[in-house]
Amino acid sequence: MTRQSDNQWLVRRMTDDDIDQVLAWRNHEAVRSYMHTQHEIKRAEHTRWFEQACADPRRDLLIFESQGVALGYVNFHQTAQGRTADWGFYAAPEAPKGTGRNMGQAALHYGFTELNLHKVCGQVLAYNERSLRMHRSLGFQQEGVLREQHFDGQSYHDTVCFGLLAAEWQLNT
Ligand SMILES: CC(C)(COP(=O)(O)OP(=O)(O)OC[C@H]1O[C@@H](n2cnc3c(N)ncnc32)[C@H](O)[C@@H]1OP(=O)(O)O)[C@@H](O)C(=O)NCCC(=O)NCCS
Repeated sequence: MTRQSDNQWLVRRMTDDDIDQVLAWRNHEAVRSYMHTQHEIKRAEHTRWFEQACADPRRDLLIFESQGVALGYVNFHQTAQGRTADWGFYAAPEAPKGTGRNMGQAALHYGFTELNLHKVCGQVLAYNERSLRMHRSLGFQQEGVLREQHFDGQSYHDTVCFGLLAAEWQLNT
């Protein structure tokens, strides 16, 4: 668990008790429309995903809380050798402004200290202005653009790739 005591934020591991809440956030239009898969996820598919993720040592599923209230979900997935992870996240649709940035800071602290990651990578659909800004303000470097990589059923969208090294994160904290 990573706690930032001044602000009463923390990230903790996702448990069975969070399953319904996370599914409701994930299926909300305000979240779904920025994901790479955008269909409505049924409870059975979601439960299967959670069970598989819990059994996979390369995955860490986290809940962000502020003053005891769950306000978002973050995951790290170590896809490459050498403690490099992809991350993904969403804030509760009703969460106050600024939640994304606070959640990102708390999750990166967890990733770089508790998980001892070397690098965190993010992939953002180019129309997702808030996530682009959030990555930049957290210190991520833009590493490339995958042109027209994502097809949403009607049109193609670029995907912007970001990376943040542990050493860069340490300089900013
Ligand atoms: C991305 C997300 C976590 C950001 O959380 P948030 O609480 O909305 O964002 P914040 O209030 O912390 O603001 C983040 C940045 O976006 C900017 N922003 C906020 N609302 C905005 C808007 N409507 N348009 C453009 N920029 C906006 C903020 O100014 C801030 O940028 P800054 O640090 O340069 O000032 C949240 O919007 C979300 O869950 N979106 C849906 C899921 C998603 O996109 N996940 C990420 C996939 S890569």
